[in-house]
Amino acid sequence: MTAGSACGWAAGVLGVVCLALQFDSISCHFPMFGTVNQSVTFPVSSSAPFTEIMWTKNRDKVLEWEAGSSVRVFPPFVGRVHLDTTSGSLTIFNLTYSDEADYKLDSLSSGDILFTLKVIDPLPSPTLNCTLAAEDITVNCRIPESYNFIQHLNYSWNCFPALCKNGSNMSEVVIKRNNDLSQEIRCTVNSPLSKQTSLLVLATCVPAENSRSRFAIIPAVVIPLVAGVIFLAVQKRFSAMWQRNRENRPQLTGASR
Ligand SMILES: *[C@@H]1O[C@H](CO)[C@@H](O)[C@H](O)[C@H]1NC(C)=O
Ligand SMILES: *[C@@H]1O[C@H](CO)[C@@H](O)[C@H](O)[C@H]1NC(C)=O
Ligand SMILES: *[C@@H]1O[C@H](CO)[C@@H](O)[C@H](O)[C@H]1NC(C)=O
Ligand SMILES: *[C@@H]1O[C@H](CO)[C@@H](O)[C@H](O)[C@H]1NC(C)=O
Ligand SMILES: *[C@@H]1O[C@H](CO)[C@@H](O)[C@H](O)[C@H]1NC(C)=O
Ligand SMILES: *[C@@H]1O[C@H](CO)[C@@H](O)[C@H](O)[C@H]1NC(C)=O
Repeated sequence: MTAGSACGWAAGVLGVVCLALQFDSISCHFPMFGTVNQSVTFPVSSSAPFTEIMWTKNRDKVLEWEAGSSVRVFPPFVGRVHLDTTSGSLTIFNLTYSDEADYKLDSLSSGDILFTLKVIDPLPSPTLNCTLAAEDITVNCRIPESYNFIQHLNYSWNCFPALCKNGSNMSEVVIKRNNDLSQEIRCTVNSPLSKQTSLLVLATCVPAENSRSRFAIIPAVVIPLVAGVIFLAVQKRFSAMWQRNRENRPQLTGASR
């Protein structure tokens, strides 16, 4: 029944599919993710100690081991794998895209356990972008198209529901323009292995005069502006007066002659 206990543990992991076959034999199927150039460990937890282990990749041998002898590793995994002979777990280092495959632990002690490995890019930071319509601001959270796992990402926003309405998909929110645009919103992108967050100050989405934050800007901008206008007007007035005086002076002197 060791197969059953290994799979019972496995069933606690999200997305695992276990099929009960006849005669106590149970086959489990784990989705696994690894980041390119990093490592991945296929976790096995068997209640009985192992006496022999074989790991295969799409039916090709990765390694084999028997109690009392050393682990024999096959290309292209030589120098790139580690077997924990106690737990049965296999670790692959320096992952490449060509490591993507089905991996199977074959052992009398545990039954078969199958892992399907996907090798994904490191997750970049999202780019936040906004587009302006009459009433609304639509904010988009984007990961470059080149990211190899883009359709499996999910997006979340730290934004009060009163402020942010759902857009046409998770990577988009819609905000009414008449909100307080001095706040910032954050988009968090989750891959199966990591997450990245970027933020956007909403005021940067609208031309300055349309922003609510103009109320904060009024004293800072308007006062010097008014002072400047008054100064220019006064200066113009004085220079006009001075000019007139200069024009009038010859007449006056002429008249006094
Ligand atoms: C993985 O490592 C190789 C060699 O060290 C490097 O050229 C490549 O850019 C790396 N890839 C990523 C996604 O980090
Ligand atoms: C991974 O690759 C780098 C060079 O690309 C190498 O220096 C390093 O030793 C490798 N690590 C393992 C565990 O094989
Ligand atoms: C963000 O929007 C600007 C203008 O609308 C556009 O030029 C730019 O390419 C967009 N950036 C991204 C990453 O989509
Ligand atoms: C917006 O989407 C979230 C998660 O996708 C959901 O929980 C929420 O109910 C949605 N709200 C509206 C108004 O559709
Ligand atoms: C969300 O919708 C926009 C436009 O409607 C589209 O360009 C984008 O690819 C979609 N994103 C996702 C994750 O579906
Ligand atoms: C998004 O993905 C993460 C990790 O893959 C997961 O923990 C989270 O529950 C997911 N959220 C939604 C709303 O699907």
